[in-house]
Amino acid sequence: MNEKQRHEQNQIKQTNPSDIKSDQDNLNRLKEKTSDDFIKYFEATYEPPNLRKAQKRGKQDVKYDEFQIDEQFQGLGKGKKYLIRTYGCQMNEHDTEVMSGLLEEMGYESTTDTKEADIILLNTCAIRENAENKVFGEIGHLKPLKVENPDLIIGVCGCMSQEEAVVNRILEKHHQVDLIFGTHNIHRLPQLVQNAYLSKERVVEVWSKEGDVIENLPKRRQGKIKAWVNIMYGCDKFCTYCIVPYTRGKERSRLPEDIIQEVRHLAAQGYKEVTLLGQNVNAYGKDLEMEYGLGDLMDEIRKIDIPRVRFTTSHPRDFDDRLIEVLAKGGNLMPYIHLPVQSGNSDVLKLMGRKYTRERYLDLVRKIKEAIPHASFSTDIIVGFPNETEEQFQDTLSLYDEVGFESAYTFIFSPREGTPAAKFNDKISMEEKKDRLQRLNAKVNAYSAEAMKKYEGQTVKVLVEGESKNNPDVLAGYTEHSKLVNFIGPKSAIGQIVEVKITEAKTWTLDGVMVEESIEVS
Ligand code: SAH
Ligand code: SF4
Ligand code: F3S
Repeated sequence: MNEKQRHEQNQIKQTNPSDIKSDQDNLNRLKEKTSDDFIKYFEATYEPPNLRKAQKRGKQDVKYDEFQIDEQFQGLGKGKKYLIRTYGCQMNEHDTEVMSGLLEEMGYESTTDTKEADIILLNTCAIRENAENKVFGEIGHLKPLKVENPDLIIGVCGCMSQEEAVVNRILEKHHQVDLIFGTHNIHRLPQLVQNAYLSKERVVEVWSKEGDVIENLPKRRQGKIKAWVNIMYGCDKFCTYCIVPYTRGKERSRLPEDIIQEVRHLAAQGYKEVTLLGQNVNAYGKDLEMEYGLGDLMDEIRKIDIPRVRFTTSHPRDFDDRLIEVLAKGGNLMPYIHLPVQSGNSDVLKLMGRKYTRERYLDLVRKIKEAIPHASFSTDIIVGFPNETEEQFQDTLSLYDEVGFESAYTFIFSPREGTPAAKFNDKISMEEKKDRLQRLNAKVNAYSAEAMKKYEGQTVKVLVEGESKNNPDVLAGYTEHSKLVNFIGPKSAIGQIVEVKITEAKTWTLDGVMVEESIEVS
């Protein structure tokens, strides 16, 4: 389908972004001028990222486009090297793969040595304060490199660059940063890098607009066994503590045929696992003008000849019966469900804006367990939400028992500027919050150890990813239920799904020995 037909079929109005901050013509004109001219140009065109604007959502303004690299950018990176440091979630991991693809199309080669790099990008995360602190620490560490090599380009992108306060802080205090661009500007990387070279001044391009869906972006995938596939971008849930809807724009789905084609292509290339990605994958399709949801998409993807399909992250609110029915068909759809609950208390959930109650969450888990008895669950939990009482925290502990999660990511609430919860008064001390986190983690560890113990003596299917990090004589991979297994086996098993007999369970991992005859002969 060409682009025109695509738009007609989906009746999605095409708009041109009107808020491009730095354009090539202006920069070319300024090339010969003084740095004062640059400052004037910058002041006239720079608009800081705007959280308020990000919250105003339009329905029709998603632009579907196809990426094509402009000839002028090819070869710009010839003989040069790039390095990208990635913080945060899988979305960022995958964005890094896209940015690597773009830089490689420009001729850059990758390096892991900061001293060798001609361009260093920090792909940042804004989810909690400590995530941001790490990035500011790294920006500081990079300063001496810039002094040694003034031609080095240092760029900051990802979720932090969507925050006005962060951009202002970098502009004021971190002069070693040459380039700042937002999550909606990734496809403009070649242009932005060229601007950074030409201008010798800082280039800032952060669109606060809702974001587009750009197809056909090049990707340098991190591995040849497992791949990420975006199915949608953004989030419209606006949980009161969360910065993501502001940093990632509104929910917008890729078209089913584009996703299916990407998965088919990955299968043909020999990939063994895909993970469908979105901040709230259960909202998939809601913005497309057709009756089509995640269940429908998974029902088509399960027919593709790829051994394992996963998806993340699920929001309990939009997890519908159709999806459960499709997941119950099994096959390549993995029986492992990450279902963030955040709190086990309905009043706290209400303040969090999660739009479900404890009872509804438990009902959903019960329904999934009935349909897929061997499914296992993991979750995300926030402790110390403003004014959370000890009784409310106890509800979280008891919910954990009721579901019997096999693992969890646990966090202390971190106020994010611009979100409603950051303005709530909070009487609970940090000491109390840390104590709750410890008590919760003790439970999480106990459940994980118990879940692992069940596997002792069993034979499980493991997708072998490579040598174990600590010991090259040991191989490592994941079970269908996402348990990490370290085992003795031949290197020829790498990239294959093999059977492993579990000899010992640890708290977070399993040890085992490969069942020899399970290896495919090729
Ligand atoms: N879209 C996903 C999660 C995105 S962020 C979802 O809704 O499940 C990953 C996790 O970070 C969240 O599930 C939440 O537990 C945690 N988190 C988000 N904002 C936070 C904050 N302000 N403080 C502490 N933890 C937070
Ligand atoms: Fe954040 Fe809530 Fe959206 Fe998840 S669903 S990304 S927690 S706003
Ligand atoms: Fe962080 Fe942005 Fe992901 S805030 S968790 S990198 S969506």
